[in-house]
Amino acid sequence: MNLPFLKKKDAVAFDIGSNSIKLVQMNQTKKGWELTKLGIAELPPEAIVDGSIIDSMTVTNTLKDLIKEHGVKVKDAVSSLTGHSVIIKKVSFPAMTEEELADSIQWEAEQYIPFPITDVNIDFQILGADTEGRGQMDVMLVAVKKDVINDYTNVIKEAGLNPVVIDVDSFALENMMEINYPVSPGENIAMVNIGASITSISVILGGLTIFTRSIPMGGNQFTEEIQRQLNVSFKDAEEMKTGKKPEGEAQVSSAVESIAGNLTFEVKRSLDFFLGGSQGSYVNKIYLSGGGSRAAGLKELMQEKTAIPVEVVNPFKNVEADSRHFDKEKLKDSAPFFGVAVGLATRRFADR
Ligand SMILES: Nc1ncnc2c1ncn2[C@@H]1O[C@H](COP(=O)(O)OP(=O)(O)OP(=O)(O)O)[C@@H](O)[C@H]1O
Ligand SMILES: [Mg+2]
Repeated sequence: MNLPFLKKKDAVAFDIGSNSIKLVQMNQTKKGWELTKLGIAELPPEAIVDGSIIDSMTVTNTLKDLIKEHGVKVKDAVSSLTGHSVIIKKVSFPAMTEEELADSIQWEAEQYIPFPITDVNIDFQILGADTEGRGQMDVMLVAVKKDVINDYTNVIKEAGLNPVVIDVDSFALENMMEINYPVSPGENIAMVNIGASITSISVILGGLTIFTRSIPMGGNQFTEEIQRQLNVSFKDAEEMKTGKKPEGEAQVSSAVESIAGNLTFEVKRSLDFFLGGSQGSYVNKIYLSGGGSRAAGLKELMQEKTAIPVEVVNPFKNVEADSRHFDKEKLKDSAPFFGVAVGLATRRFADR
C-alpha cells in the first residue's frame, strides 16, 4: 500500500484474522530465515466480522497481550487485510514506465474501482512488458478502502506499535511461497487460504500473483452447519469440529463433508473462471493454508473434484526454528495458521 517507505529494520508481523491474531517475527541470517517469535491468540466471534474490525478495544487488548507475552521489543509492525475491502484487478494500461504509472495511477484506476477513488489507497504491480506491440501492458491494480486501513493501523498504534505496512493476505502468501516453495518459471500454483470467515484464492505464475478472488466462506460455515444439524451452541459445535469435544462424530463428519463440498465447488468455480479467462492457462498445484484447511477430508475432496494435486502448505519449511525455543511437533501442527504471518514477516527485506 502507499505507506511510508520501509526501513530495513526488524518488524513484527500480525495477521489479524477474525478467529485469531497470529504473531511472527523472523531474522534474516546469511543462511536464510530464522524464526524468533511465534504466537497466536483467539478473538471472540464478534470482534472482527468479515474482515472489518467491530470491537477495536478487544483487538487492541489482544495485541497488547501478545506483545507482552512474547516480549516483543521492536516498534515497527506489519499487518494485512483481506475480503471485500480489498479490490484486486488485472487491467490493461497503455505501456509506460513504473514512474509514469505511479504518477497517473489515480486517474487511470478510477474506472476500475467501484468506490470513490478518494476513499481508497491504490497500489499496483506491472505484470509484464508490452510483448505483442499493442502498446498496452498488464497491471495488477490493488485498491484498499482507507477507512478499513485506518481501523487496522489504529489498533496497532493503540497497542503501542508503529504500523509500517498494511499488506494484502494474497501478497503476503506470495512472499511466504517465495521463501519456502520457489517455483520454476512457467509454473502456475493456486493458493487457497481458508480462514474462519473468508477464503482467499490466488494464482501465482512464476512468482507473481496474477489472479485473486475472495469468497465469504470459511471455517465458520463448518461450525454453523454442525450447530444446525446437532442443535448445539456455536462454541460446542466448534469444539466438536476441531476434535476437542469428541461427540456426535458421525453427524459432525457428515456436516463437515457437506460444507467441504460447497467450499470445493466455489474454489473450483474461481479456478475455472481464471482458466477460462486466460488462454492456454493451467494450474499445476493447489496449496492450502489457513485454519480451515484442517477440516477433515477437505484436501482429498478438493484434489478429487479439481483433478489438481493439493498440498497443505508449511510456511516454516525453509525457516530455521531453534528447538530450544520452538517445539517441532507443535510448530508442524499449527503451521497452516501461519502462512500469511510468515509472509508478512519477510516484508521489510523484500519490499515490493
Ligand atoms: N482441526 C480443525 N478442523 C477444522 N477447522 C479448524 C481446525 N482448527 C481450526 N479450524 C478452523 O480454522 C479457522 C481459523 O483459521 P484462521 O486462523 O486461518 O482464520 P482467521 O485468519 O482468524 O480468519 P479470517 O482470515 O477468515 O478472518 C476457524 O474457523 C477454526 O474453526
Ligand atoms: Mg486469515
